[in-house]
Amino acid sequence: MPYAELVATLRSAGCVFAEDEARVLTEAARDDAELAAMLARRVAGEPLELVVGFAAFCGLRIAVAPGVFVPRQRSAALVRAAAAGLSSGEVAVDLCCGTGALGAALLAAVPGLEVYAADVDPDAVACARRNLPAERVFLGDLYSALPDGLRGRVCVLVVNAPYVPTDDIALMPPEARDHEHRVALDGGTDGLDVQRGVVAGATDWLAPGGRLLIETSAAQSSRTAGLMTAAGLAAEVVRDEDVDGTVVVGTLR
Ligand SMILES: C[S@@+](CC[C@H](N)C(=O)[O-])C[C@H]1O[C@@H](n2cnc3c(N)ncnc32)[C@H](O)[C@@H]1O
Repeated sequence: MPYAELVATLRSAGCVFAEDEARVLTEAARDDAELAAMLARRVAGEPLELVVGFAAFCGLRIAVAPGVFVPRQRSAALVRAAAAGLSSGEVAVDLCCGTGALGAALLAAVPGLEVYAADVDPDAVACARRNLPAERVFLGDLYSALPDGLRGRVCVLVVNAPYVPTDDIALMPPEARDHEHRVALDGGTDGLDVQRGVVAGATDWLAPGGRLLIETSAAQSSRTAGLMTAAGLAAEVVRDEDVDGTVVVGTLR
């Protein structure tokens, strides 16, 4: 298919970044038939990342899977803030890991880091095992999934838990609503339900001076910071304008 026709078809299907998508599809397809099949799936509304089977994140190619949250570019803010000051051999945990993109990006930024990850969704765990050392990815509810030996040893805990208030899910773009599992999006009435569990357990798992980093929205950040302060962590809100990301960092004194 001529490139201009590919771009025009994507644009008329509502793809805002039609040229970028055309390039990704062209590079991913092995022949014209596969390109046509991929284009049809994309025009039908399937997220580009699911169509090609990967997401570009922090310079990495992250494997994605149906139903599993596709990593968002704004989450690079979490990776940048977490990587600062981390050294080889230290322990990092990616809790609520989805594809494991955050942990994989941390590992790429700090070679030799000991990265563990966990998620409550079996599809996410299977996917994360393709992006991280598989034996360090665990299935279960928050900290109950982690090996007990990590208690008190975690230098950095990165968490992008679901934080969309339940009633706002209906307002999300269909690409997310229809293709990502509800457990990946729903943060409860005020969007903070899972974060409450994360913050409540953090002090048992962090090493002295360790940091908990939670992605949130600018509007919710003061409440996320309030949860951390109440748990005894020193909380700071970090904005990353480059990627429009907001992270709350809580340090165990
Ligand atoms: C917004 S997605 C983020 C995924 C990934 N961290 C990322 O940034 O791409 C939230 C993830 O939290 C997981 N999750 C929700 N509740 C959980 C819980 N109680 N324990 C562990 N994981 C949970 C979901 O399955 C989903 O993969």
